[in-house]
Amino acid sequence: MCLKGNTMTAKNLAVICEGIIKRYVVGNQDFLALNKVNFEVRTGELMIISGPSGSGKTTLISVIAGILNYEEGECIIYDTHLNKMTETEKLAFRAKNIGFVFQQFNLIPTLTVAENVAIPLIINGMERHEANEKAAIVLEKVGLGNRINSSPRELSGGQQQRVAIARAIVHNPKMIVCDEPTSALDSVNGHNIMTILKDLSQDDSRALIVVTHDSRVFSFADRIAEMEDGKIIKISTQKVSI
Ligand SMILES: Nc1ncnc2c1ncn2[C@@H]1O[C@H](COP(=O)(O)OP(=O)(O)O)[C@@H](O)[C@H]1O
Ligand SMILES: [Mg+2]
Repeated sequence: MCLKGNTMTAKNLAVICEGIIKRYVVGNQDFLALNKVNFEVRTGELMIISGPSGSGKTTLISVIAGILNYEEGECIIYDTHLNKMTETEKLAFRAKNIGFVFQQFNLIPTLTVAENVAIPLIINGMERHEANEKAAIVLEKVGLGNRINSSPRELSGGQQQRVAIARAIVHNPKMIVCDEPTSALDSVNGHNIMTILKDLSQDDSRALIVVTHDSRVFSFADRIAEMEDGKIIKISTQKVSI
């Protein structure tokens, strides 16, 4: 428990989701991907979301990160109501406050590794030269200091995943959201990445959300939420495999 007081106030909460409903429309069929999800993430914690494929994990973190709109309910991120913002406001909010590691990495192949990592800094107004220097420092931290001028296409899946993680943390966001961040990593690199993420989560104002199937990662969690059929079915604080 990282709460400083006895009562939980909005101050301690990075994420408050209440009754979130998200439907995908495929043809003339509606698919209920999030079925009244209630979910909270505290500041200073590393929350893992686990559960079978198709249970709604990526959908939930995409809603939380403001990437995906939802139909019903309320999602409040650091006291900001996502559905009360315009798309432009949401983009600016995300650029400043959120780092997101996509399951498929989503690196830009025409940019170098360092230029990919520098993107969030440039969006936030940093000079290109300074942004590239800062990107190089973070790339060093994830073990890719010698690949800054490479194209993402020249890297292995595991190296690309580390570039994606560097890009998500380079601008020091308040919230870091990672979709299966160790799926392409061997145990040494997976452990190194989780140690970096865990360190970042120790900041009292930051929150980390990590979607994973990887049981090697569970011991890094403060809490583990388990999803099934578009719902959170269990939250555990035990650092054991679920
Ligand atoms: N863009 C989409 N259009 C239609 N259905 C989708 C889309 N994205 C996800 N789904 C469906 O929603 C459900 C939840 O998907 P997802 O959130 O990706 O689950 P998970 O990340 O747990 O594997 C799945 O049944 C998936 O097929
Ligand atoms: Mg997924």
